[in-house]
Amino acid sequence: MSSGLTPTDEIPTQGIPGRHHPAQEIAKHIPEKEMASTELGAKLAEKGDADLYRQLLNQLHSKADENGSTDSVNRMIDIRRQLTEFQLHYKFGMDEVLTKINVLREEFEHTRDYSPIEHVNYRLKSLDRILDKVQRYGCEPTLESIRHAIRDIAGIRITCSFVSDAYWVAEMLCSQPDLRVVEVKDYIRTPKPNGYQSLHVILQVPVFLSNRTEFVYVEVQIRTVAMDFWASLEHKIYYTYDGEVPGHILDELRDAASKAAALDAQMADIRDKVTALRRQAPSAGEGATGPTPSDRPDPAQWFQRAGDGPAWNWDQIVDRAGGDPLN
Ligand code: GTP
Ligand code: MG
Repeated sequence: MSSGLTPTDEIPTQGIPGRHHPAQEIAKHIPEKEMASTELGAKLAEKGDADLYRQLLNQLHSKADENGSTDSVNRMIDIRRQLTEFQLHYKFGMDEVLTKINVLREEFEHTRDYSPIEHVNYRLKSLDRILDKVQRYGCEPTLESIRHAIRDIAGIRITCSFVSDAYWVAEMLCSQPDLRVVEVKDYIRTPKPNGYQSLHVILQVPVFLSNRTEFVYVEVQIRTVAMDFWASLEHKIYYTYDGEVPGHILDELRDAASKAAALDAQMADIRDKVTALRRQAPSAGEGATGPTPSDRPDPAQWFQRAGDGPAWNWDQIVDRAGGDPLN
């Protein structure tokens, strides 16, 4: 890998990939004797990862035994249930965060004439991609270890018009008192060496199940349209070359990334000029360009953390992120 990048799984442009629930799809095929005949088993065997799959399967079997499912049909049903439950929890967590994002978006769209959110994409990581990562991380192939080690099984990407909007959205989301900010990466302030820019936030969101509360990890990436354009092309190129991107293409990508950053800066400058002009023609309202950062309401006014004082700004979010995971 010449670029040192790890854009292992892109969030697709439309919804969750595939109509079949991946866990059901796999569990439905789990054979007791002929593992290599399953699509996933064959794929992993090809890559020399069959052991990983087998270990996970063994763990699921022993859990099924613990649950009293002694005959093979009941064990199969139990294994399918374990996998479905595992993936469903991420869907629930992702739905919770998507609802929060939609609330912000609709509130802006209906009550102000500008929304900092342009569009939202999301995906659940498939089981074979999870196992790829289990191998890369050297994590134990049990659902319990995977739950703690792999924190991007549920992924959401928010695309904004302006850099300041990306921080604004991050602040509005991360200040919500029921969300826990586990980790923050600011690749806007400090882009990756290849030029990649985005805000990455790992959240834990409570999911209230019938008999308990699960704190589910959700990765949220927030970026501008220009950053998104760059990242999706870079991702495709990375895969076209199977990670071994020629040096001159990498140079061009870095150059394109700095042009994307310059475009973002120019757009913000135009927005600020339009805002200044609007002050001379106040009937125009907020219009399509939205408030400049200095025009925005003070976070303490637009969002109150329950019992906890005002909303956090980005620097406070970065400072506060981390600590022990819930659950
Ligand atoms: P992963 O193991 O891939 O999750 O990387 P990580 O744990 O080092 O996390 P990081 O926050 O750096 O990257 C997570 C995700 O961000 C990736 O899965 C991609 O979706 C995206 N990403 C990170 N770096 C790049 C990059 O250089 N190019 C592109 N196109 N996407 C990237
Ligand atoms: Mg990832």
